[in-house]
Amino acid sequence: MARLSTIAWGAERFRFGPWQADGKVAYLAGFSAHPTVAAIDAALERLRTEGYQSVVTSAMRPEEIPGFLAAGFTRRERLVVLQRAISRREEPPQLSVRRCGIGEIDRVLRVDHAAFSAPWQLDGAGIREALRATPRARIRVNDGPSGIAGYAICGKAGRTGYLQRLAVDPPSWGQGVARALIADALRWLSRNRARGVLVNTQESNQRAIELYRNLGFQDDRTHLMVLEREL
Ligand SMILES: CC(C)(COP(=O)(O)OP(=O)(O)OC[C@H]1O[C@@H](n2cnc3c(N)ncnc32)[C@H](O)[C@@H]1OP(=O)(O)O)[C@@H](O)C(=O)NCCC(=O)NCCS
Repeated sequence: MARLSTIAWGAERFRFGPWQADGKVAYLAGFSAHPTVAAIDAALERLRTEGYQSVVTSAMRPEEIPGFLAAGFTRRERLVVLQRAISRREEPPQLSVRRCGIGEIDRVLRVDHAAFSAPWQLDGAGIREALRATPRARIRVNDGPSGIAGYAICGKAGRTGYLQRLAVDPPSWGQGVARALIADALRWLSRNRARGVLVNTQESNQRAIELYRNLGFQDDRTHLMVLEREL
């Protein structure tokens, strides 16, 4: 995902950029609380003039969805939100976790691409977006026998933490890498006096959902939706 541009319609704002490497699919994000059909139509017109052929939205909250459905979008993916309280003393990770050097992003991206299937993979700009999404954020890695085995991006806004991204290289699955990266994130949030942490994942990602539940996360009632539309 390249750097995002802004579309303004009255007081309503959208951000957009190419979602896939071929540049035909747009990614649309950053809505006002209740986007209107007129504003969404204006955004779609702009995407058409930019040469896009279809559009995929960011994960949207229930109150953001009706305008998009009325503007012809359909559901692409449902996401579940899980939440957990942060205690004063979170357990230390069982495996070593270290900070990620600036020159290591390519290796992190390799792990991301191995762990996620094509449309969900991040590029360097996507990693920067995830790190910029909250006022404070950090990226941490675990090393395996042949380089970085997994990475996590965790952010904090106010007293709430967000697990923004988590990926483990498939050969290292099932060895506690994700568990360690999450434990490290929870400790950082605890040190920084967060009260709770949220994470969302695809409803179909049972492996991740099981992982979060095992670590004390509970289903939040909120469901997020990714929508799509031809242009
Ligand atoms: C989901 C993912 C991060 C798990 O990483 P991992 O390093 O294999 O996980 P861990 O070894 O730390 O396992 C921790 C827990 O995950 C769950 N888990 C691991 N393997 C599992 C499997 N085959 N089936 C179901 N649950 C499983 C278990 O709850 C496990 O706890 P346990 O060790 O006490 O049994 C990894 O599979 C991955 O990168 N998947 C693709 C990207 C992704 O889905 N990221 C998260 C999206 S939000």
